Amino acid sequence: MSSVWLFGYGSLIWRPDFAYNRSRVAWVDGWVRRFWQGSHDHRGIPEAPGRVVTLIPALGQRCGGLAYEIDVKQAEEIFAALDYREKNGYDRCDATLFFDTAKMESVQGIFYVANEGNHAFLGDSSIRSIAEQIQTSCGPSGSNSEYLRLLAQALRQYEIVDEHVFELERELESLEAGSSRT
Ligand code: SIN
Repeated sequence: MSSVWLFGYGSLIWRPDFAYNRSRVAWVDGWVRRFWQGSHDHRGIPEAPGRVVTLIPALGQRCGGLAYEIDVKQAEEIFAALDYREKNGYDRCDATLFFDTAKMESVQGIFYVANEGNHAFLGDSSIRSIAEQIQTSCGPSGSNSEYLRLLAQALRQYEIVDEHVFELERELESLEAGSSRT
């Protein structure tokens, strides 16, 4: 084995910050992307956490993202840094990554998932209240609204449709338009 594949579906799509040989749009089956994970260390603070994405099991659905091929010689160092970056509730998991929606081409890979029940898990809420939390949260990595916008932008760039993300982006825009009028 000369390389390891890592699947990114959140900030790892638009800020990989590690060396890789190539990247490809990929899909994981049986998962959806949701802004259900609290962020106390990147897009929020312990007293006022933001919201970032995790994967939620969903039979019959799939989540699109970017798969990175990492040289096995660099993998240990890269994954140590990623474990630190994703330390707020995420675990490394094995996954099958599909490179096409017809599921003709696949590889074994890894993703980071923040499972329900981890200390930072926030879970579901209405689109309005998730967008309000995103609008007001900020942490050491920047504003939570920037995280949402960069993710939505990247998904469009790779032609990945995700209504949960796009709906939140629209809701955030309408909240911001409302607050600029007052
Ligand atoms: C990921 O991007 O794959 C994990 C979640 C995040 O860091 O936003």
